[in-house]
Amino acid sequence: MTEAVRIAPSLLSADFGRLADAVAACEAAGADFIHFDVMDGRFVPNLTVGPIVLHALRGATRVPFDVHLMIEEPLQTLDQYLDAGAARVAVHVEAEPHLHRFAQIVRSRSASPGVAINPGTSLAALEEALDFCDFVLVMTVNPGWGGQSFLPHSTGRVRRLADAILKKGVSCGIAVDGGVGPANAAELVSAGARHLVAGSSVFGKGDIPAAVAELRRAAAPGAGS
Ligand code: DX5
Ligand code: ZN
Repeated sequence: MTEAVRIAPSLLSADFGRLADAVAACEAAGADFIHFDVMDGRFVPNLTVGPIVLHALRGATRVPFDVHLMIEEPLQTLDQYLDAGAARVAVHVEAEPHLHRFAQIVRSRSASPGVAINPGTSLAALEEALDFCDFVLVMTVNPGWGGQSFLPHSTGRVRRLADAILKKGVSCGIAVDGGVGPANAAELVSAGARHLVAGSSVFGKGDIPAAVAELRRAAAPGAGS
């Protein structure tokens, strides 16, 4: 049976003065996860939010949080995100040399470990991590800002990654993040992605439930073919 497609609105495109309202709107829209982007001004130039904000929002919804750490030395603060209630945590393969230790820590806290990869990094860097991470977060833009255009070579990367996962016989999932919306959801799902992170395509139109529903329709197997 084909695994269901999960939709994870990214709060980065929400109104930061009303994050609790944005979270409630995502829940009402039937989002499967809420994507929480952490940027440290070092790994990426931008700065966003941290574990205190995650903890505050955790109390505002039952929807699980999908935490994307775009930070250097993520092991230094990982526990704080787990304490704050992260259900899934991804660190960048470019930022963390101790990916196995990271995965052990996340699993020991009953959360799901993932590894994120930038558009310019070879998929070969993931070879070992596919065995012990639950998912790969394929960046389909260069990380750092919302609202960027999808990089078209990403679809081929997702397809090659799906092949590598199949060949290895492991159960690692594929998430995509950056410029994802109704126009490219079907091709990404057909390439093997099952977790779609979407910021501006969910928050940019004003009607969050309608945007989530449109994305879900576009991502349904068979759509666009
Ligand atoms: C980018 C972030 C993304 C971002 C996606 O660095 O990791 O999660 O919010 O936003 P859109 O969907 O607008 O590209
Ligand atoms: Zn992200």
